[in-house]
Amino acid sequence: MDVTITPLKCLVRIMFLHLFSCFVLLMITAMVSIADDTYTSTFQSLRDGQTHVSTGGTFELGFFTPEGASNKRYVGIWYKNIPVNTVVWVANRDTPLTDSSGVLKITSPGILVLVDHNKTVWSSNTSSPAQNPVAQLLDSGNLVVIDKSDNVDPSAESFLWQSFDYPGNTLLPGMKLGRNTITGFKWFMSSWKSPQDPSQGNYTFQNGPKGYAEQIMMEGSVMKFRTGPWNGIRFSGAPHLSPNPIYTYNLLFDHDEEYYSYKLLNRSILSRLVLAQDGLVHRYTWIDRTQEWFLHLTAQLDSCDTYALCGAYGVCNIENSPACGCLKGFSPKYPKDWEVMDWSNGCVRKTPLSCNGDIFQKYYGVKLPSTEQSWFNTSMNIKECEMKCTKNCSCTAYSNLYISQGGTGCRMWFGDLIDITIRNFTKNGEDLYIRMAASELPTAC
Ligand SMILES: *[C@@H]1O[C@H](CO)[C@@H](O)[C@H](O)[C@H]1NC(C)=O
Ligand SMILES: *[C@@H]1O[C@H](CO)[C@@H](O)[C@H](O)[C@H]1NC(C)=O
Ligand SMILES: *[C@@H]1O[C@H](CO)[C@@H](O)[C@H](O)[C@H]1NC(C)=O
Ligand SMILES: *[C@@H]1O[C@H](CO)[C@@H](O)[C@H](O)[C@H]1NC(C)=O
Ligand SMILES: *[C@@H]1O[C@H](CO)[C@@H](O)[C@H](O)[C@H]1NC(C)=O
Ligand SMILES: *[C@@H]1O[C@H](CO)[C@@H](O)[C@H](O)[C@H]1NC(C)=O
Ligand SMILES: *[C@@H]1O[C@H](CO)[C@@H](O)[C@H](O)[C@H]1NC(C)=O
Repeated sequence: MDVTITPLKCLVRIMFLHLFSCFVLLMITAMVSIADDTYTSTFQSLRDGQTHVSTGGTFELGFFTPEGASNKRYVGIWYKNIPVNTVVWVANRDTPLTDSSGVLKITSPGILVLVDHNKTVWSSNTSSPAQNPVAQLLDSGNLVVIDKSDNVDPSAESFLWQSFDYPGNTLLPGMKLGRNTITGFKWFMSSWKSPQDPSQGNYTFQNGPKGYAEQIMMEGSVMKFRTGPWNGIRFSGAPHLSPNPIYTYNLLFDHDEEYYSYKLLNRSILSRLVLAQDGLVHRYTWIDRTQEWFLHLTAQLDSCDTYALCGAYGVCNIENSPACGCLKGFSPKYPKDWEVMDWSNGCVRKTPLSCNGDIFQKYYGVKLPSTEQSWFNTSMNIKECEMKCTKNCSCTAYSNLYISQGGTGCRMWFGDLIDITIRNFTKNGEDLYIRMAASELPTAC
């Protein structure tokens, strides 16, 4: 309405020689119409300089140059309504443009392409060819390709492609971290090289191999940190990632998918999980009052979270100095190495197992050992778990799978126990039973 009326007002004002205000009004009219265009819910092409705003106005898609990255141009998504520039996703992270002639457009089968001087520098993929493909930035920050001729409400099932399947260093609410167990497709985070360079850095954060039910941080192909297995309420080694007023989270086993995801309890609070360039996993929350991102927590607490710091059968306790020790009934494999604080070879049993007649030493509130060689059953109780472990000589430890309802399910470990940490668990700790020779039982007098 305003837009059509304005030129009339303008004419009247020209008659009264209010030339300057007319000019201002024209400017405003022009700005309003540009803003209107950017608010249209779908687009087919976007040139450098144009942006596309999500339907609710939370996120914006466009071309940008990271601060200090000279003239490199990237297509990315950032928060629209905060003054601190925060990019949450980058399309061409490994193939920057060198000038501002890039165009992001949707091509006929439903593929997003980023073209520069007629050269394709980045492209998406499509699950099936579409008649009338369009792109849209959802208010969750998800850039999706949909087929307009489908005439249905866009839902995850009808997306031909979505940026949420390809996280960069940021996990937004609703994104998945995990895998499809049938296709093997992985949702994982990967660090940026530096704040100036969004290309893939040295670290990834992802779901561990099948059966793991834990998140791991890797440097290349080397494990550096693990959260500990999911215990139904949180990850065993991360007591600080616990129920809170800002977001809910879960590890979901959904048909053929297994993933971690989180949801905001109040959508007007901004929160994001970031894999930093040094491999630390940070959660930030936006604070309106200070207009800053607040570092809410870091997944890695201290050096005890360095994977396998104390070696096999070692146990890390940050309150001790040195932090590494051996489990009860174990002693350092190479005592000389321990003296110079090289704990990597861990500990060995003082008394070998005899298989029959072994006992189990109970530990409370530990980060459960690496589940690389483990087995689980969701319906067994702890007694059945003990029996099954006792009977199998290669079973070195067992615990409940979940801590809810007084403990349910069974997890058994085989082989060496690696990456155990003792922490001050005030609640939600789990019991771990470690196999020992009966003669190591503390003598009761
Ligand atoms: C891109 O391709 C079109 C058609 O093939 C051609 O007309 C145009 O000059 C090309 N533009 C550039 C920048 O190469
Ligand atoms: C594109 O998707 C198809 C089927 O979903 C898949 O087989 C193919 O590997 C994908 N290509 C790329 C480049 O991701
Ligand atoms: C990544 O690894 C390379 C090679 O080890 C190293 O030179 C570089 O500093 C590392 N980058 C970061 C951000 O840690
Ligand atoms: C969500 O947060 C906003 C801003 O802090 C607040 O005004 C609003 O009342 C909250 N909504 C709910 C449902 O808690
Ligand atoms: C789990 O244990 C129960 C009870 O012992 C058994 O009936 C079931 O088959 C087991 N499931 C798997 C997958 O091993
Ligand atoms: C003990 O468990 C391992 C690993 O699950 C299995 O391969 C082995 O057959 C079991 N041994 C016995 C005697 O049940
Ligand atoms: C751990 O708990 C003990 C005993 O409750 C306490 O003395 C100690 O200060 C706690 N340490 C930390 C880091 O909370």
